[in-house]
Amino acid sequence: MSKWWQEIVMYQIYPRSFQDSNGDGIGDIPGIISRLDYLKDLGIGGIWLSPVYQSPNDDNGYDISDYEAIMDDFGTMDDMEQLISEASERDIKIIMDLVVNHTSDEHPWFIESRKSKDNAYRDFYVWRNPASDGGVPNALSSTFSGTAWEWDDEAGQYYLHLFSKKQPDLNWENPKLRQSVYEMMNFWIDKGIGGFRMDVIDLISKVPDQMITGNGPKLHDYLVEMNHATFGNKDLLTVGETWGATPEIAKQYSNPKNDELSMIFQFEHVGLDEQPGKAKWDLQKLSIPALKSVFAKWQTQLGCDEGWNSLFWNNHDLPRIVSRWGNDKEYRVESAKMLAIILHLMKGTPYIYQGEETGMTNYPISDISEVDDIESINMYNERLEQGYSRKAIIDSINAKGRDNARTPMQWDASNNAGFTTGKPWLHVNPNYKAINVAATLEDKNSIFYTYQSLIKLRKDNPIVVWGEFELVSDVPEAVFAYKRHYAGKTWLIIGNFSEKVNTIDLTDSVKSVIIANVPKTITSLSALDLSPFEAFVVEV
Ligand code: NOJ
Repeated sequence: MSKWWQEIVMYQIYPRSFQDSNGDGIGDIPGIISRLDYLKDLGIGGIWLSPVYQSPNDDNGYDISDYEAIMDDFGTMDDMEQLISEASERDIKIIMDLVVNHTSDEHPWFIESRKSKDNAYRDFYVWRNPASDGGVPNALSSTFSGTAWEWDDEAGQYYLHLFSKKQPDLNWENPKLRQSVYEMMNFWIDKGIGGFRMDVIDLISKVPDQMITGNGPKLHDYLVEMNHATFGNKDLLTVGETWGATPEIAKQYSNPKNDELSMIFQFEHVGLDEQPGKAKWDLQKLSIPALKSVFAKWQTQLGCDEGWNSLFWNNHDLPRIVSRWGNDKEYRVESAKMLAIILHLMKGTPYIYQGEETGMTNYPISDISEVDDIESINMYNERLEQGYSRKAIIDSINAKGRDNARTPMQWDASNNAGFTTGKPWLHVNPNYKAINVAATLEDKNSIFYTYQSLIKLRKDNPIVVWGEFELVSDVPEAVFAYKRHYAGKTWLIIGNFSEKVNTIDLTDSVKSVIIANVPKTITSLSALDLSPFEAFVVEV
């Protein structure tokens, strides 16, 4: 049976950087409300809202101190309720970010937990005695550099934090903790939200003493329990962030028979320009054949009966795709459109990250003082100590740092890109005078309208949602070509991932052109030259 979330396109909002309404330099919920008409015009059906809960902001809201209150910077619960209802009037669902692998160390549960060993909340977190040498319990490390264990004087033990010290990990072994999480989820479901994006959900079942953190032994039991206690009998979208997923694991999560989630974010394609076994900062050249085969694997192994794909190029943790795998200089427009066409014609639910639809680019930093993101700052300090050159570290932050995607949304050519009348919390990209929403709306050939057309294509053509995927292999290395088949129709999708001309030679005859990113008449696919970053969809 088809589900609404299989037929829509999602849009991710990073609230801090979307739209400020009160001049404090920080995006907020009234700001989002003021832009709902823009999103409606784009055509999206749901918003994944990065965390808006009360938080001391050590990791920009992914460190929550009260799950049932809104961060002061962002507004009030009334604003949040207004957002849910105004979005719903425009057929847009609000998907909340559910961050329950950890809380803030300022959450009342943790404040209680650290008080004493017999505190009722002690077991809500993962506490351990020092190792026999008096040091950290073991070698588990934090994603944000250094050990994952922090000594706490008040508690007289170490606690586990797979992210920052201010993000202590919750202990999902404890049934009371699990019930508390489910109650909180129901609080939000009762407010009329459309679902949850689940932060690092594959980490919740861990066996720290055996160094097991991801895909732990009880992960799927917990998800089934959660499903039954919360969203299971409601028509909601749930998407798990799962860095370690394979198609097999994805089926476990997203097969409707299993009562777990609607879909997951898998990250296999995202790691392809990283050196195997090394950190995300250690780059290698992206191999287009590898990219094609990873997508083809996920497209063919995750059908709609056994699970569902999510499709994305970027989010608030990843660099801007046009700067990463496109060309953000002379071919910015062509490559942004090519990437959009290739992604949105695949099978699954596409996610657009704010500003992607206008071709926003990475922000170039020259000094660490310009960086806000805790992950980049910690890595900088760690690598300096390890002897890396400052330049090499800054280069890697420019390539992969999370602030790249977090600079304020560029709305127009006025001061601070129309994001705020105050001082923006993070620098605005200096290219905002040329790259902004107002400019893109005025230009009928802009990236925005390609996104808008792609969303409309999905609404009007079941082949986009349901068509079978078939990789087309007899094309040059740098060309990604695939077909979709549905009810006797076939669409062929072509994208040239290169600044060079590439020639395809296919025998299919062209019935009509559905969408293209360069103006040209396509009547035959034999000996056809593709210009740099050219992409099109034809019915064959
Ligand atoms: C994944 C989130 O997307 C990221 O922004 C955050 O830092 C970590 N999880 C920890 O919550």
